[in-house]
Amino acid sequence: MDPNTVLFLLITLRSAFPEPIKRKFPENFRFGTATASYQVEGGWNEDGKGENIWDYYTHTYPDRIANQANGDIACNSYHKYLEDIVMLKDLGVHFYRFSLSWSRILPEGHTGKINQAGVDYYKNVIRALKQNGIEPYVTLYHWDLPQPLQEKGGWPNTDLMVDLFADYARLAFSLFGDQVKNWMTFNEAKQTCQLGYGYGVFAPGVQSNGIDSYKCAHTVIKAHAKAYHIYDEEFRASQKGRVSMVVDTDWFEPASDSDRDRKAAERKIQFNFGWYANPIYHPDGNYPQVMIDRVAKRSKKEGFEKSRLPEFTPEEIDYIKGTFDFFSLNTYTANMVKWSDDFPIGYVSYDGDISVVTYQDPSWNSSASSWLKVVPWGTRKLINWVDKTYNHPEIVITENGFSDDGELDDEGRIVYYQEYLSNILEAILEDGVNVTGYTAWSLMDNFEWLGGYTEKFGLYQVDFDDENRTRTPKKSADFYKKVVATRCLVDQCEN
Ligand SMILES: *[C@@H]1O[C@H](CO)[C@@H](O)[C@H](O)[C@H]1NC(C)=O
Ligand SMILES: *[C@@H]1O[C@H](CO)[C@@H](O)[C@H](O)[C@H]1NC(C)=O
Ligand SMILES: *[C@@H]1O[C@H](CO)[C@@H](O)[C@H](O)[C@H]1NC(C)=O
Repeated sequence: MDPNTVLFLLITLRSAFPEPIKRKFPENFRFGTATASYQVEGGWNEDGKGENIWDYYTHTYPDRIANQANGDIACNSYHKYLEDIVMLKDLGVHFYRFSLSWSRILPEGHTGKINQAGVDYYKNVIRALKQNGIEPYVTLYHWDLPQPLQEKGGWPNTDLMVDLFADYARLAFSLFGDQVKNWMTFNEAKQTCQLGYGYGVFAPGVQSNGIDSYKCAHTVIKAHAKAYHIYDEEFRASQKGRVSMVVDTDWFEPASDSDRDRKAAERKIQFNFGWYANPIYHPDGNYPQVMIDRVAKRSKKEGFEKSRLPEFTPEEIDYIKGTFDFFSLNTYTANMVKWSDDFPIGYVSYDGDISVVTYQDPSWNSSASSWLKVVPWGTRKLINWVDKTYNHPEIVITENGFSDDGELDDEGRIVYYQEYLSNILEAILEDGVNVTGYTAWSLMDNFEWLGGYTEKFGLYQVDFDDENRTRTPKKSADFYKKVVATRCLVDQCEN
């Protein structure tokens, strides 16, 4: 081959596979990994734990889950948490993000009945983490509502749920807050509200798209704010921790440079992300104006008495805005967005309210999850957008990761982490965005909701056919361990 051809090939290869940046993450940057209670714990009815909506949903509608799987045993972390902590210690991570199972602590959902065995379990987990120098990052709600509360209407029942969540949050702060300094109230509430009460594919399976899904969000946002104020007023002075709410989004890239596609992409991210992020994180508070206007207009045309999107009073807007100590962001992928004329009236739904067309570019690398394509540059654009839109907050990436079939030689996951982290580092060093932490989803393969055990996100493999649920490190665990230890994404960094 002549040298020019070789050079051309090298350049082409280089732009097709951009190299990770060779500089180090800042000294104070924090690396962690995450799981969630229903996805890993098992022990679904042990030692006084109550039933939650995922227990009920997977037992009542097994056909809705791949291979009729459920979280009855999952990774059995209820019994094997010490093994999990050995893994975390080996990875060398600074923190472990996990969630509390509300019904393990409060079997009926309210503080009238506390399950001491559940409290002890989390005290043991937290103590073992601290003894190993790992900071607990605790999520109060990662989708597993106590079933008795669903039977009273669940999240769309605003009056009931705001107070019950606040009671649960206060109890958690008082029980665990001497050791836990980083709290997340809700994880990705959009999945709870839109998938659980809109499309009805997640527990509790309620189909009320663009009606109950909006009420659910309204409740969650108010409940978060109330929990934040409780922390502020009753715990912050003595516990000196931080409270946040995790909001998730894909990046939305306009399909073309046209004004219409750019407007469509902005509208999509406002509905998808601003819906939850604006009331809390935006200096003006409240839902995005485009969402208020469009839902009101369509509701009226559809014959509703008032907008399907509930309203915050001016007092509520003030009470909710600013209820965060850092920005918790989950992100995995990107979508292209094209302008569309308004979807027909009568099609009452969140999607009709947005009225845009999204798709993923067929050239993007795939994962084992249909929605998850590998688009590392999208994350750099997203964190820049968050930085600009929300007035330069401190951002912690509270989830990011890749699914495959669970193989130990998981090159796809290594490439994913390397490229996403590289884009995040470029956003920090070149764009001046204040990202201070990163969380790899997930510590180990686990119950992936409707996907059951068919979409594996772990740094550790779990053998779900073995009653011991044996854990084995994948190649990516070695990769991540090295990144955490060296703060460098390649063999040798320049600084
Ligand atoms: C796509 O996958 C190939 C093969 O694993 C990999 O070499 C390449 O870097 C990936 N591209 C992106 C953008 O992740
Ligand atoms: C990032 O946020 C932290 C916490 O608020 C702050 O101490 C730090 O100065 C910020 N850094 C930059 C570069 O803005
Ligand atoms: C499970 O673990 C126990 C105790 O370590 C061991 O004796 C047993 O052989 C293991 N079972 C399997 C199937 O690996």
